Amino acid sequence: MDSIRVQGLAPLQGKVKIQGSKNAALPILAASLLIEGQVLLENVPKISDVYGMIHILEELGCLVRWERELLRIDSREARLCSISKELAKSMRSSIFLLGPMLSRFHKVALEYPGGCVIGKRPIDLHLETLQRMGVQFIDENGQLSASAKELSPASLELPFPSVGATENVIMAAVKTEGQTNLRGAAKEPEVQALCRFLNACGASIQGIGSDSLRIQGVNCLHGAKFRIPADRIVAGTYLLAGFTCGGSIFLEDAPVNHMEAVCAVAQKMGAGLTVSENGIYAQFPERAGELPFLRTDTYPGFPTDLQSVLLAVRCTGKGKTLVQENIFENRFRIMEELKKMGACFHVVNEREVEVKGMPRLSGAEMEARELRGGAALVVAALGAKGESRISGRRFIDRGYENICRDLRELGARIVSE
Ligand code: EPZ
Repeated sequence: MDSIRVQGLAPLQGKVKIQGSKNAALPILAASLLIEGQVLLENVPKISDVYGMIHILEELGCLVRWERELLRIDSREARLCSISKELAKSMRSSIFLLGPMLSRFHKVALEYPGGCVIGKRPIDLHLETLQRMGVQFIDENGQLSASAKELSPASLELPFPSVGATENVIMAAVKTEGQTNLRGAAKEPEVQALCRFLNACGASIQGIGSDSLRIQGVNCLHGAKFRIPADRIVAGTYLLAGFTCGGSIFLEDAPVNHMEAVCAVAQKMGAGLTVSENGIYAQFPERAGELPFLRTDTYPGFPTDLQSVLLAVRCTGKGKTLVQENIFENRFRIMEELKKMGACFHVVNEREVEVKGMPRLSGAEMEARELRGGAALVVAALGAKGESRISGRRFIDRGYENICRDLRELGARIVSE
């Protein structure tokens, strides 16, 4: 089956090791197409989106091999060919292939990455910036076809710090002769990891971590060994989960330097945090304390990917919370499922929802329809009275290696079925 069963109210105790970051691994896998040599990646998360990206690389002729906990990629034999429809459709992150394939093959045909439950997910910023680098795009019977005789350096500015558009420009520019400047770049830790990986392979990217990147094109990128950073969203999910059922946990390898915003919110809600270089120890109050307002923002603001989990936590927190979602236009759908547990919401407008904290939720049958909303349902079920069953585990498996295993290690009564 494709569901998760939870017996609520077991306090969390113990420690769990945080997996590698999905949103760092995916662009780095795509960027391996640019590397003339062997890439050895450590800490690659074993999740379905990574398996999907590996299938795409293999379709392109890359040699990809798991060597226990290492992933070895050799793309020297890769050649231009079309990517199977179902694969490209199934994964929005296939859009990350635009930059590396244009740089390497000067041509690429891709299915338009679909929108999803959380929003239309347009790609206009990807297209506009790459066009400024000399790429022509045409719509070939519903497929996005792109070509560029020669990519040219450019001075670019993003009106919105799109993570994916920033990453595509970086991958298109690293081997394009001349200097490409990108202002208004995304600063997310996953963008920083991509830059660090490429620089480890001989690229020349400056301004990492800032909103202004300077990329000096190089002729060749050599192989390298690189460790994928821990996943700040998975760590944040488990950190926030503790508020629904109490207890104390240690999140081993949590990337504390990139979790300022979620740690600040956790402390505001009454968690006692002890941060060390190898993780976060958290002690939780009986009930999440007051949090009148929460807004999501681009990094280093509170991440949109933890908004649904925070919403679930606030369903039993003290007082009311106004949650403002500023990144995606449809990221409150999870309310409908949480209401089945007795949660109480007031929709202010498309971007704002007020949650009224109830003393306790009750277990219910619910359906996950996307990754982070699905994780939020699991978090809510941990703190609910009675049993919950969440269908659509496949969505959660796209980003969490094994949410049931991880939470069981922390003492939760949870099984996948
Ligand atoms: C990345 O998506 C992440 N995915 C998302 O994580 C994350 O929520 C998002 O960044 C924001 O941090 C991966 O890294 C694989 P954006 P991406 O381009 O690159 C609009 C998860 O759960 N936009 O920064 O698609 C867009 O509609 C996923 O792990 C345009 O208008 O995000 C959205 O409103 C969900 N035009 C906003 O910008 C464009 O050309 C943020 O998008 C591109 C984006």
